Parts: sequence; structure tokens; C-alpha cells
Amino acid sequence: MRLLVTGGAGFIGANFVHATVREHPDVRVTVLDALTYAGSSESLAPVADDVRLVHGDIGDGELVEKLVAETDAVVHFAAETHVDNSLADPEAFVHTNVVGTFTVLEAVRRHGIRLHHVSTDEVYGDLPLDDPIRFTEATPYNPSSPYSATKAASDMLVRSWVRSFCVRATISNCSNNYGPYQHVEKFIPRQITNVLTGRRPKLYGLGTNVRDWIHVTDHNRAVWRILADGELGRTYLIGADGERDNLTVMRTLLRLMDRDPDDFDHVTDRAGHDLRYAIDPSALRDELGWTPQHDDFESGLAATIAWYRDNESWWRPLKDASEAMYEERNQ
Ligand code: NAD
Ligand code: TYD
Repeated sequence: MRLLVTGGAGFIGANFVHATVREHPDVRVTVLDALTYAGSSESLAPVADDVRLVHGDIGDGELVEKLVAETDAVVHFAAETHVDNSLADPEAFVHTNVVGTFTVLEAVRRHGIRLHHVSTDEVYGDLPLDDPIRFTEATPYNPSSPYSATKAASDMLVRSWVRSFCVRATISNCSNNYGPYQHVEKFIPRQITNVLTGRRPKLYGLGTNVRDWIHVTDHNRAVWRILADGELGRTYLIGADGERDNLTVMRTLLRLMDRDPDDFDHVTDRAGHDLRYAIDPSALRDELGWTPQHDDFESGLAATIAWYRDNESWWRPLKDASEAMYEERNQ
């Protein structure tokens, strides 16, 4: 099988490619990645001899057409992904998430190629803190940020290409991932690398916002289950019952790093900050038999901290620029 992985040099995509090379030796992987600030060929260094990396934009119709013509399936991870960046400058989000997904859809339509589109639970907006309700496949879309709005738009394009053009596609909407190779702009790696570089960790607002954490390996195992046995046209929600508020994650992380759990700064809150995300993953568990292997968040977090300690050469070149950006935004 030939597999085209868009965004395979980013956080989740690179972990997906590593797992694919390890666990599916019969699959020939081509990665298409624009190598933006968020993507790096370094993330594919351990599998460099096993995959083909094509440096290019998913909005480049000619290139996407050529690569799709020579593949059997596409797993589409490529996106602009950071909410704070989308608030500062949304244009790239429209280009990559909307126009880029359109470009991929047109190519798979022309060539009759199977597509799995990777999306986020943020398309559903947020949930109240004081009600145990969770997102399901039937929850109406209600995005809050330019990031989630452009991901929602991309999901809608996929749904309509399935309905109107019989494109053979599935969609997954996953909760917040953590694990190795995540860019230092994101919450967990930012705090770990702040501690490792002698900076104080930064919490937005009071830290009452809740995220539903899943280890990246479990997300990618679900993507493989859906690619192999998912029902065409369906949307699957991926989550691992990992709800925690940001303050709790911050204090756990500091304790695991032998720091005072209160040794962090409160900084300016994010505009429009979503309160709570929570996934009901019943369909994925019941129909596709998926269960998360990392069911202990604290040990997954400890392993992630160890990875950042051991791989400073991977994240160090990104850190100063990322913090300079946050400083400009008083965050
Ligand atoms: P990331 O920002 O770490 O990586 C994105 C990758 O896409 C990078 O390698 C980047 O270079 C590439 N890219 C960006 N624009 C491109 C373009 N125009 N053409 C080609 N490549 C381009 O993102 P991630 O966290 O790995 O997320 C991957 C996917 O998973 C995204 O679609 C995201 O919406 C979704 N998702 C992420 C999370 C999460 O917690 N990180 C949760 C649910 C869903
Ligand atoms: P993030 O990793 O940006 O993911 P998302 O916004 O897509 O869920 O942020 C996770 C949570 O952590 C979110 O509620 C914002 C918060 N946060 C902080 O408190 N401090 C930080 O430095 C960052 C980057 C995020």
C-alpha cells in the first residue's frame, strides 16, 4: 500500500509516520509537508531512510495532483494549528486549512483515492464547566476561533465532497494531544521547556479551562483503525477520558519536575478562550474496538517530560523565537 501523509513533519503526523514505519512495514509512506515553523525534517530523522519527504504546499494543486495520482490513500494532517496564532494572523489558516483541504479533496475526487481527514474537537465550540455533557458526532458545529472555524470549514468541505461526489472519506475529531515532537508553542511543551530553560511557566487566566488529554500514540492508533475499518462518510470522535483543568495539569507537571507546584505566572487570558472540551468516544470503542493504551495521564506526562529533557537539540532552536512571540502578546 502507498500512503500519502500530509503534514507528516508536524507533531501528530511525525508520530503517525514513525508508528506506520514500525508497525506497517508493507506500507510505503510519502510525506507532503511545507515545513512551516511547525514542521521539521528533524522529526522524521529516525525514519529518514524509510519514507519519502516532499517539501511542498497542500495548496499547490499541480503537486498535490501528482502525488495523489501515485498513492492508494491519503491521511490529511497538514494544517495551521495554534489558536493564539490564528487570533494574531488568521490568513494562513484560511489558506492551509480551507484552500489546502479543498485542493486535497479535488485531487482525491479526480483519482478515486481513499482519504482520511484529521480534525479537532474544537469545531464543536466549548462546553460548560458545571455539566457533564460531552461532544458526540451529533453535536452541532459552533467554532470559536479562526483556527477552529477553518477546521470546521474543512470538515464541511469533506462532508459535502462525500455526499456530492462520492469521495471515499472519513473524518476524525480528536481532543488535545500530548507526547514527543510537539511544538514548544503548545501548552504542555511550553511549560516543560520553560522550566528547562530557567523561565517561569505561564498559565492563561485562572487555569479553570478544561482540556481532554490523549496521548498522541493513542490518537494515531485510532486513525489507523478508522483508515482500515471505518465506515466511509462517517465522522469518529477520538478521546481518552482525559479531562483535566489547566491549573491541575500545570501543578502536576511542576511536581513531576521537582518544582514548587505554585511556581508559575498567571498571564493575560486568551481572547474567546474555550472553557471546556470533552469527547464521548463510545462509537470508536464499540464499533472499531479501539481503546487507549495510555490511560494514566501522569505517567504519560512524566515520559513526555523525559523526552524533552533528552531531546533538547530538537526543541532548543525553536524556543527563543516562540517565547519572543508570547512576550509581544503579554503571554
Ligand atoms: P502541527 O502544527 O504540529 O503540524 C502541522 C504540520 O503541517 C507541520 O509539519 C506543517 O509544516 C504542516 N503544514 C502547515 N501548512 C502546510 C501547508 N500549507 N502544506 C503542507 N504542509 C503544511 O500540528 P499537529 O498538532 O500535528 O496537528 C495535526 C492535525 O491534527 C491538524 O489537522 C490538527 O487540526 C489536528 N489535531 C491536532 C490536535 C492537537 O492537540 N495537536 C488535536 C486534534 C486534532
Ligand atoms: P493549547 O496547547 O494552545 O491547545 P488548545 O488551545 O488548542 O486547546 O492550550 C491548551 C490550554 O492551555 C488552553 O486552555 C490554553 C492554555 N494555555 C496556557 O494556560 N498557557 C500557555 O502558555 C498556553 C500555550 C496555553
